[in-house]
Amino acid sequence: MATLKDIVKDRRSVRTFDGNQISPEDRAKLEEYINAGISNPFGIPVEFVLLDAEAHGLSSQVIVGEKLYVAGKVAKVPYADVAFGYSFERLVLRAWTMGIGTTWIGGTMKREHFEKEAGLKDGEMMPCVSPLGYPAKKKSIREAMMRKGVGADNRMPAEKLFFDGSFDTPLSGKMQQEIADLIEVVRWAPSAVNKQPWRIVRATDSLYHFYEKKDRGYVSEATGDLQKIDVGIALCHFVMYLEEQGKKAEVLVSDPGIHIPDGVEYIASVQVV
Ligand SMILES: Cc1cc2nc3c(=O)[nH]c(=O)nc-3n(C[C@H](O)[C@H](O)[C@H](O)COP(=O)(O)O)c2cc1C
Repeated sequence: MATLKDIVKDRRSVRTFDGNQISPEDRAKLEEYINAGISNPFGIPVEFVLLDAEAHGLSSQVIVGEKLYVAGKVAKVPYADVAFGYSFERLVLRAWTMGIGTTWIGGTMKREHFEKEAGLKDGEMMPCVSPLGYPAKKKSIREAMMRKGVGADNRMPAEKLFFDGSFDTPLSGKMQQEIADLIEVVRWAPSAVNKQPWRIVRATDSLYHFYEKKDRGYVSEATGDLQKIDVGIALCHFVMYLEEQGKKAEVLVSDPGIHIPDGVEYIASVQVV
């Protein structure tokens, strides 16, 4: 069976689909997964709505051949964006294991139209949607260009993302080797414009602190903070990896108060118990 590392490294955003509907069996499996409730460590419910593209007149300028979308909705509460990232990514990974491709879409869509069709209510936000379908054999030219534009086949090196005790000390080569698979599983997470805004400080071998390194232009009323969604995605990969190893990971919000660089914000910690 494929490990989480295999799945994460194999997954990519899919923007060119084969034009077929998802089979009734696969759709039933997805619906079952969604209806069971896709939880996150923040206890904030994320609601998923499947929307037939044709019936609802939905499309995205970067997606070709899709027949189905999923929209995610969440109440506008503190940590909604982080929780959204965590739950939506669980669906993304689940879909990939079934041979179903996705692309996180927070920008390249007619947002008002999607929000209306998803039945968005006051007090809620719909930060992202995704197409769901079987990948086409060949990527569209636009898809290939988009991937090149954001360097989608690359990620930053571990020493830019992982730190030892404080932001002054990148994780040593020896330490990187000790947790090499955990690092890979986090490094290959998807993020808006492939910015990889997560930063992780290892306090001890059982306590890790997650931070957001902010860039300009990722926050709006409609989406919340897209880079907090990215941190939620990284957190999801991190916790899923530990669980796969038979460990229990508790996510807590308890700022250790260590010195942080400008533009960096504490998000959450993971305690391995
Ligand atoms: C929160 C979020 C929002 C995104 N919004 C868009 C989008 O609006 N349009 C798009 O084509 N891709 C979008 N992406 C996909 C990223 O560009 C993609 O994940 C990244 O380039 C890495 O490529 P990969 O997913 O193939 O590994 C988004 C990703 C995330 C996590």
